Amino acid sequence: MTQDEMKQKVAEAALAYVEEDSIVGVGTGSTANKFIDALAGMKSRILGAVASSNATAERLAGHGIRVLDLNEALTQVPALSVYIDGADEFDAGRNLIKGGGGALTREKIVAAASRRFVCIVDETKRVDVLGAFPLPIEVIPMARELVAAEARKLGGEPRLREGFTTDNGNIILDVHGLRITDPRGMEEHLNNVPGVVTNGIFSLQGAAIVLMGTPAGVQTIG
Ligand code: 5RP
Repeated sequence: MTQDEMKQKVAEAALAYVEEDSIVGVGTGSTANKFIDALAGMKSRILGAVASSNATAERLAGHGIRVLDLNEALTQVPALSVYIDGADEFDAGRNLIKGGGGALTREKIVAAASRRFVCIVDETKRVDVLGAFPLPIEVIPMARELVAAEARKLGGEPRLREGFTTDNGNIILDVHGLRITDPRGMEEHLNNVPGVVTNGIFSLQGAAIVLMGTPAGVQTIG
């Protein structure tokens, strides 16, 4: 089975976590895109969706799925029923690295506004220790060198994501060479560096459930 086929299987499996008449939080990336395509088949059974990026909003709308602004949604419901999104890496504790697509800030916001985060990945994303995938950090442009210096102090090698601006108008530093043995501590530490908008560690609020696609089928972790 190809990686693409495993992504397709987990995307379809995630439909089981979508509650009828609810507002669904939807992530960004190739796996999330497959979920959006699958969600289109049940669009008449949900109230709508909140998108974690402009690209996701466009894809949802292209399928005729009602897209709500998060603030609008939270005037109608106390929380979104579920947030469904992919990840770049996950570990046994369901800590994640996200942000390969640069949407980490809105992803973290929509995940935080949801009752649970169901993460959809293929087995290639599983690691023992986070950090082989360069850690994305969204940064206010004027703080680039300040944040880069802090990343070096942590043992990483920050690289500017060239030619990329986030949906929020900021830059991304991808930090290579980290070995993240304390995801929660590292997430908290980076959150406190002035100029950091969001870092791509999802540990303080990791995934409640990871659906992992394997050639043998979809495994549920959590
Ligand atoms: C985007 C993300 C994605 O979830 C992550 O990059 C995984 O993407 P894909 O499903 O294409 O492998 O965090 O910011």
